[in-house]
Amino acid sequence: MNKIFLNLGLQPLANRLLDKKELKKKELKLPLKIQFNTKSFLVSLKNTVSSKEMFNDKYPYRSSSSKTINNEYKKLSNKIKKTLKPKSVLEVGSNDGTFLKYFDKRTTVGIEPVKKHAKITKKNGFFTYDNFWTIKLANQIAKKYKKFDLIFSANTLSHIHDLDESIKAIKLLLNTNGTFILEDPSLLKIILNNAYDQFYDEHIYVFSTLALKNILIKHNLEIYKIENLKTHGGSNRYYICKSGLKKIEKSFFNNIKNEKKSHLHKIIAYKNFSIRINNSRKNLKELLIKLKNNNKKIIGYGASAKSTLIFNYCKLTSSEVSYFTDSTKDKQNKYLPGVKIEIRKQPMNITSDVDYSFLGAWNFYEEIKIKERNFLKNGGRFITHVPYPRILK
Ligand code: TMP
Repeated sequence: MNKIFLNLGLQPLANRLLDKKELKKKELKLPLKIQFNTKSFLVSLKNTVSSKEMFNDKYPYRSSSSKTINNEYKKLSNKIKKTLKPKSVLEVGSNDGTFLKYFDKRTTVGIEPVKKHAKITKKNGFFTYDNFWTIKLANQIAKKYKKFDLIFSANTLSHIHDLDESIKAIKLLLNTNGTFILEDPSLLKIILNNAYDQFYDEHIYVFSTLALKNILIKHNLEIYKIENLKTHGGSNRYYICKSGLKKIEKSFFNNIKNEKKSHLHKIIAYKNFSIRINNSRKNLKELLIKLKNNNKKIIGYGASAKSTLIFNYCKLTSSEVSYFTDSTKDKQNKYLPGVKIEIRKQPMNITSDVDYSFLGAWNFYEEIKIKERNFLKNGGRFITHVPYPRILK
């Protein structure tokens, strides 16, 4: 049974940035409610929009936009080549090729429905299907290729409505001894960090190990290892194989133990989370208004989808945060959906007239802190809402 535990209000599509000429147009919005399934333990959105609405050529997210992600995939690809030694690789959700590029062009295939991203990997010589991931597509691929030794999918399966179909399609193309690596935000980290901004239209599902295990069992697949990552504010990398094929490693049991310790299998954990999120909204708003009343200039750093969620949920506007900056070209000179805050090109360094910078990309703070050391040296400060709203020292 699905039980709603969090209501994030009426939200626009988080990555559907607005052009200046669209500012007066009516935006598509959906009531964003988050639910917990008491039987499968799966956390998901109550209402969703169609994939075509979310992932079209207006979709600006580029996985190559952060050094952290680039380094992470370089490290991972080296490790995979050494340990799993795959002879063929399929990536579901290859974006602009940040992971794919480390593998052999002749034996690697990408799937990316955002055509302008698929164009990049195609141009770089990788066979890329610019389609949505479905069983129909998997059948089509099966006719052309043999099965794959490695199927990789980061931050993608959680975006697809029909989870069972997605997994069925993966199983269809996975070699008997093959490995499926799935990477997605960790529900445990979200709950512990009060990072409610991970709940937005694209994240139809947010996985716990407990829930994923239950879903995979139905397909005769199992998790044999988990790596806890820092990316996207805390993600899990699940190593999955056909059931009974590999020894289940300690990391799997540890993750289950930690999730149970935080009661992720019980509705109470989510109800308590919801109370904390209400307080977080109130406190963030109060903090920004207080600074503004003291004539401080505040900007946003990183116009992430998460920022859209936070600003619309907290009803923050350009009265509090003058503008955002972002390093992604496609996001510049646009406006944050709903609250319509301008997004500017990110200068080499935050300009000296800025007193505070709200971390829309809080998950990249380690990287940003280094880049913006002069801002900090000159007395500038960052603001974050995780795990609770505050000015970072
Ligand atoms: P993400 O958390 O969804 O990956 O989005 C992070 C956004 O922040 C993305 O649009 C890129 C942007 N960004 C900057 O503008 N400057 C930076 O230094 C970093 C690391 C990210």
